[in-house]
Amino acid sequence: MIFMTSFRELGLRNTKKMFEVALKNKFAIPGYNASNLEQMQAIITGCGESNSPVIVQINLISLNYANPIILKYLTMGFVEFSKSNGWNIPISLHLDHGKTFKQCKSCIDNGFSSVMIDGSHLDYESNIKLTREVVKYAKELDVSVEAELGVVERIDKNQERTPSKFTDPEKVEDFVKRTECDSLAIAIGTSHGAYKFIVEKESDIPNLRFDILQEISKRLKNYPIVLHGASSVLKEHVDIINSNGGSITQAFGIPESQLRKASQLGVCKINIATDSRLLFTAMVRKYLQEHPDHFDPRQYLGLAREEIIKMIKRKNTEVLGSTNQAKFILE
Ligand code: 13P
Repeated sequence: MIFMTSFRELGLRNTKKMFEVALKNKFAIPGYNASNLEQMQAIITGCGESNSPVIVQINLISLNYANPIILKYLTMGFVEFSKSNGWNIPISLHLDHGKTFKQCKSCIDNGFSSVMIDGSHLDYESNIKLTREVVKYAKELDVSVEAELGVVERIDKNQERTPSKFTDPEKVEDFVKRTECDSLAIAIGTSHGAYKFIVEKESDIPNLRFDILQEISKRLKNYPIVLHGASSVLKEHVDIINSNGGSITQAFGIPESQLRKASQLGVCKINIATDSRLLFTAMVRKYLQEHPDHFDPRQYLGLAREEIIKMIKRKNTEVLGSTNQAKFILE
């Protein structure tokens, strides 16, 4: 016997109303990635305290790390935790970068309210076929589906790059029409991870391709566009890591001013994972360096959690514009 859990049983929401309101009010819903308990606590608390809607993102590595069954009940616990604090915020649980129909189906059957099917590495027709298959299944259960067209760059720490293939604006209408996906991730110059640009200094970071974004927004008309690879790789956090025994060099992110601009031009979900990982590592390294005789994980993990809460509240207000938007989604 197969037991399925609907996202509604967990108290979650899909992303439809979130995106409608984000497009209308010109802000971006935060897509914050979590890989452990403290990050998840920080995401819910940071968004709860800023009255922001939130999409909690879990990628496949984190899903296996947490275990899907534990994650399901943990999520239910977080929804209750949020309510018990009096935070009335819409929460969505999203699979980040699902690669196969089977992975997406398994998440949908286990309470996710949104999934990404990432067929960006496939040829155009195969991407459409795979996305369509996931959409057909998800629609019956009212789960949202994010797809990707174009390839978002990835640079590893040895500066090996999987180059970007900017999204072709001429293809987006056909792709969205044929797949019926609920939102589309596009490539306009962002990149995953801490090493986004091969440049010497911050002032050499190139601008995102706002011309492509504008053309896509124009063609898709009031349709949810998603930006992956949107961490800003804050220098102060990298410096803390490096001055406490770490070695992260040539790490540059997307300037926050560019993300604000993107959210005004039709981007209504911005994905952030690396910034939280960097800050977490910075705080743990600093604490242990300063307190070599301490050995209670609650001390250094708790500090990391507090700092991530502050960062999330600041980003919601200063970068995404999602602070105090929850009520418009719930009304
Ligand atoms: P960053 O690595 O820039 O945080 O991007 C995360 C992301 O896009 C997850 O899908």
